[in-house]
Amino acid sequence: MIGVESILRELEAALAEAQTPEQVELVRVRFLGRKGTITLLGKETDFRSLGPEERRTFGSQLNELKRQAEELIAAALADRRQRAQARAEAEARAKLDLTLPGKDRRLGALHPITLVQMEMEAIFEGMGFMVLTGPEVETEYYNFDALNIPPDHPARDMQDTFWLEGGLILRTHTSANQVRALERYGAPLRAIFPGRCFRYEAMDASHENTFYQLEGLVVDRDISVANLIAVMKALLGEVFQREVKVRLRPGFFPFVEPGFELDQQCPFCQGNGCSVCKHSGWIELIPCGLVHPKVLEAGGVDPHKFSGFAFGMGMTRLAMLKFGIPDIRLFNSGDLRFCEQFPVVL
Ligand code: DAH
Repeated sequence: MIGVESILRELEAALAEAQTPEQVELVRVRFLGRKGTITLLGKETDFRSLGPEERRTFGSQLNELKRQAEELIAAALADRRQRAQARAEAEARAKLDLTLPGKDRRLGALHPITLVQMEMEAIFEGMGFMVLTGPEVETEYYNFDALNIPPDHPARDMQDTFWLEGGLILRTHTSANQVRALERYGAPLRAIFPGRCFRYEAMDASHENTFYQLEGLVVDRDISVANLIAVMKALLGEVFQREVKVRLRPGFFPFVEPGFELDQQCPFCQGNGCSVCKHSGWIELIPCGLVHPKVLEAGGVDPHKFSGFAFGMGMTRLAMLKFGIPDIRLFNSGDLRFCEQFPVVL
């Protein structure tokens, strides 16, 4: 009754011509749209003229035809969409020019002071030290008085100071942390204090007004110079990865008694003399000493029960030695070409 086969074949031929999803949609409208061939078939047939048997056959044929037509169209649509996608990808690939130079993605780097500080902290933490910090804007009391440097003491002139309003100063050394830590933690105590220090100085290749120190403080019962030397040798052994020869010379600092300058046998010439050690065979490295009883007292620690040692390393100087940096002004230059030479290897 209905030319099902011929309509389906007509539909297949139309779909075969449709190259894009949009063209498939046009075919759908042509067959199944409001005025489409198959839709009209249902609308234009006068059902009343058909007998009951014919009506049923016609109805089921029409439904089957619609179902098959929808299936064919859906399959064609999926196929054309996939092809359109593949075409778009091929086009994008064709546009990719492999001869263009790549994007410059810079590797991050840590500042050499940061690298030295991280190394120091790891070494001292391994020996049971706490890592503490204190304020850069400091009181005269912690920076000088508590360290046995009274107002008229000539040692105040050794460290030219930046004065702020209200009697505050920029700390001239990390030693300012010593009494703060003793007040807070008492004895026994094992701590290091890395940090930035400031001095009112004219700048040149070896002088900066802003630099980094790393202070150390150990307070316990029966601490002696032997403990100081042992810790310093352990530290330098870790930094230089071999046994390091050291010597102590007397040095004066009001907050230690006795006070020393710890020299290290020059690691560049093994003590034979070179330009780094100015041909002396030794490098002046770490001022240190046994904590003065007055400093312990200022921190509320009884000097009859406890003793201690302290040291103040120049971290900036250590970084110069370690990386062979010739001019101290490079550290604060903010020049990326400088910092980028110390890539992080984790
Ligand atoms: N604070 C001193 C300075 O900046 C360095 C120093 C010397 C620190 C002896 C110490 C020490 O802890 O015991 O020149």
